[in-house]
Amino acid sequence: MNGRLTGTVAWVTGAGRGLGRAIALAYADEGADLFLTARTIDEVDDVAFDARERGVQAEAFVADVRDGTATAKAHAHSIDRFGRVDVLVNNAGVWIQKPFLEFTEEEWALTLDTNVTGIFHCTRAVLPGMKERRRGRIINLASIDGQFGFANLVPQCASKAAVIGFTKALAKELWQDGVAVTAICPAEVDKTVAWGAEPATRPGAPTVPLLPADVARAAVYLASPDAEAVTGVTLDVYGVGFLTS
Ligand SMILES: NC(=O)c1ccc[n+]([C@@H]2O[C@H](COP(=O)([O-])OP(=O)(O)OC[C@H]3O[C@@H](n4cnc5c(N)ncnc54)[C@H](OP(=O)(O)O)[C@@H]3O)[C@@H](O)[C@H]2O)c1
Repeated sequence: MNGRLTGTVAWVTGAGRGLGRAIALAYADEGADLFLTARTIDEVDDVAFDARERGVQAEAFVADVRDGTATAKAHAHSIDRFGRVDVLVNNAGVWIQKPFLEFTEEEWALTLDTNVTGIFHCTRAVLPGMKERRRGRIINLASIDGQFGFANLVPQCASKAAVIGFTKALAKELWQDGVAVTAICPAEVDKTVAWGAEPATRPGAPTVPLLPADVARAAVYLASPDAEAVTGVTLDVYGVGFLTS
């Protein structure tokens, strides 16, 4: 297969459903070989199967991104299987909506541990190899939530603002090593429309939904040779809903 990501090995976290699934299958359609992780093996297995049907190699593995030992083990497995990781998509995330005073300390910790510390763990696993090869892309799923702040989403907004800070700071640290670090900031996505089932034409504004495919295409771009000069920035994928609200 000759796609924009042929010859690329990508690790996508949280690849079992939602945006992670869409990104994984978009990468497969562009020829990337895939290492796919989440906690639910049945879901990542299904995505790996769908990716292999598209003619690429794909391996599913269980890893909780909150656990640094588990992510190191996952990375070691990816190296055994593929020899390297060229692109890491830090997609795994959780989202809890309620008034600030109703959040428990456990829910705060769950959100920060998954959305921020998870990125810390996976990035630290892949980075030595990327620096050694002087080639790598780290793509973080942040959110519009981290840019604007929204009521009843304080842990989510705080965690995604942290992801944006992480992205910008690490990019400055790594640009001389040939490793790019970027973030995608989607607005709210309609996940009822799966990758591959998106409509060819869309209804008119203001009801146009933002689809997983829209975010997946941004993730393909950031992993592709077209984004060679892109690092330390967020790619905002808002659709038109945000502009019309
Ligand atoms: N959907 C949106 O509208 C939207 C908008 C802006 C940004 N985002 C961001 O995009 C990313 C994906 O969102 P989504 O809506 O597609 O989420 P989702 O449908 O809830 O899927 C989340 C994925 O992450 C995995 N995951 C959750 N906790 C994990 C953990 N501790 N360790 C490993 N994997 C874990 C889940 O699998 P398991 O539960 O099996 O582990 C699942 O595969 C998130 O970072 C989210 O904040 C989403």
